Amino acid sequence: MERIEVDLKDRSYTIHIGDNAWQLLPEFLGDPGRGGKIMVVTDDRVGGLYAERLMNYLSGHGAEACFHSIPEGEASKSFSHLEGLCRRMAEQALDRDCLVLAMGGGVVGDLAGLAASVYLRGVHFVQLPTSLLAMVDSSVGGKTGINIPEGKNLVGTFHQPTAVFIDTSVLPTLSARDWYAGMAEVLKIALTLDPSLFGYLEEVRDLGPSGGVDPVRIVSAACRRKAEIVREDERESGLRRVLNFGHTAAHALEASLGYGVIRHGEAVVLGMMAALELSRRLCGLPDGGHRRAMEVLSRVPVPVTALPEEAAGFLSRDKKSRQGEVTAVLLEDIGKVALVPLDRPEDLVDALRDALDRR
Ligand SMILES: NC(=O)c1ccc[n+]([C@@H]2O[C@H](COP(=O)([O-])OP(=O)(O)OC[C@H]3O[C@@H](n4cnc5c(N)ncnc54)[C@H](O)[C@@H]3O)[C@@H](O)[C@H]2O)c1
Repeated sequence: MERIEVDLKDRSYTIHIGDNAWQLLPEFLGDPGRGGKIMVVTDDRVGGLYAERLMNYLSGHGAEACFHSIPEGEASKSFSHLEGLCRRMAEQALDRDCLVLAMGGGVVGDLAGLAASVYLRGVHFVQLPTSLLAMVDSSVGGKTGINIPEGKNLVGTFHQPTAVFIDTSVLPTLSARDWYAGMAEVLKIALTLDPSLFGYLEEVRDLGPSGGVDPVRIVSAACRRKAEIVREDERESGLRRVLNFGHTAAHALEASLGYGVIRHGEAVVLGMMAALELSRRLCGLPDGGHRRAMEVLSRVPVPVTALPEEAAGFLSRDKKSRQGEVTAVLLEDIGKVALVPLDRPEDLVDALRDALDRR
């Protein structure tokens, strides 16, 4: 079992990673001071697959637990589902000693984390991420959130979990498309912060769900890097922006296609390809590094072939909201990041178009 500490003073916590990491739950719940009721939040799909398994661990501990299931998918990150969950917690008379367990992908984690941060002005919560994306990204770092019609994740808080248990044995039931969406975030970490992880992914060749990638290895590497970044910059005032590599172009692409048409991870792959183009032009990324990075990214299937006209408009709106500046996260080399203000944000759209043309 791998253990990674997220060092945040009185908000520090441990990430446990391994095949069957949930086995550690009874011991964790048995700690003195954790005697309150448990609210398990999950979605219909994950609950159908794993609620019984989780229940076995919880009943082994003798905890009083209730379940709250939301429909799978992004639409559940809404005010109405937040209200539904908080009201359910109140109906069950959950008090300040309660514990919210978020068992699911990023949608469940973001909603349950937000509910845990506002219910009774904040109660403890534990992340049990089940999608690759949630394991390598959203379950660590304490960002919670829901969407409003004006935009994604516009309402949220920072609320660190009390612990994260990443049980990689649940990954085989994840769809191939969701696997690749998580792999995109692993590649982001590898390209920006971890050349040795990049070297491993380059060697494995097939990045698909049954291609031979060792889940514990990639999840541990990604969590270790994310933990380091979060420790330095919990609230994204500087260094944490590195994690936005590929994301500016990705957001413009997602918004212009209409949310839900393309997975966020798929858009991030194209966004990273665009950022690599600009990195070569503006930051001196060597041709060798550019070629290797492009080759690995091209192994992730992406179901889009052309850039909608509206993408440029979304990027200039983004620019306006940031007082006229779009700062791109670019690479000087694999593992070496530079933050570069763009004089012409349209260059990013052109680079995105080039990236799509090349696939
Ligand atoms: N808080 C953060 O720091 C952060 C970071 C990145 C992304 N996010 C958010 O995460 C969300 C995306 O997360 P996601 O990709 O996990 O989406 P998701 O939660 O919608 O999960 C994707 C799909 O996989 C299913 N699933 C999950 N685990 C499964 C398993 N083991 N077996 C079978 N099916 C399984 C889910 O039911 C769902 O249908 C977005 O809302 C995004 O904004 C948050």
